[in-house]
Amino acid sequence: MEFLDTLKQRRSIRSFSDKAVPQSVLDELLNEALESPSSSNTQPYKLAVATGNTCKALGEELVNKYHAANKISKQPLPLKLISAATSSDLPDSDFKPILGKYPGIFQKRRVATGMGLYEVLGIERNDRKARDEQMAKNFNFFNAPVAIFFFVHPGMKHTALVDLGIFMQSLMLAATNKGLGSCAQGALGMWRSPIEKHFKIPKDYKLVCGLALGYPDEHEVNQYRPGKINLDELLIPEK
Ligand SMILES: Cc1cc2nc3c(=O)[nH]c(=O)nc-3n(C[C@H](O)[C@H](O)[C@H](O)COP(=O)(O)O)c2cc1C
Repeated sequence: MEFLDTLKQRRSIRSFSDKAVPQSVLDELLNEALESPSSSNTQPYKLAVATGNTCKALGEELVNKYHAANKISKQPLPLKLISAATSSDLPDSDFKPILGKYPGIFQKRRVATGMGLYEVLGIERNDRKARDEQMAKNFNFFNAPVAIFFFVHPGMKHTALVDLGIFMQSLMLAATNKGLGSCAQGALGMWRSPIEKHFKIPKDYKLVCGLALGYPDEHEVNQYRPGKINLDELLIPEK
């Protein structure tokens, strides 16, 4: 594929066919992503790649965690406090999530993007149940046959996150180039323990997020193309 076509064609895919990704294709994609630059070539990332039964089991475990935690979040405060002290279902993420609204313009962009997605899916703004169900789909990777979890070494501070972001974009473009689809998923950074059950994650590596990978299906959600900011919003004016 021409580079510009690949760049423009990549969009987050949230519905996958059940066609498996051959191991050889997966290896090719990962090797291509390894062409990425990184700070002093440190490559401070490690990946847990779940396929087959591992992917299925992890999806089920994460969906269960999501539903259990969601239930707890709706409890009255005293019960919630008890659950917080006793439940193993609450998120055990390595990086603290942003609680509540995003700051300033970012909340507006977040809401606009979310609303656009719900519109494509025919979900009403105040249909809490349908929104919860859509959110839950994150945790079985939108039925993708491959789920990738990304870890970085925090000793490399913010450069580790920059390097991982570049690696992830390379991987997503490499996937698009081969006719696959992907969705980066911050949601998959919420629970480390289920991944720990299936992979020997080095203690000093921190979970950042995940990615669903597979062949896109025909669902209209995959046609959603949220707008991007323009150059006026991107560029800082000179004094
Ligand atoms: C770090 C990161 C985390 C994301 N987390 C999620 C997520 O948890 N669930 C989801 O459906 N999409 C997630 N996305 C996809 C974004 O919503 C998407 O990239 C954005 O809306 C722009 O759409 P596009 O990827 O189609 O250009 C994430 C993207 C990135 C880069």
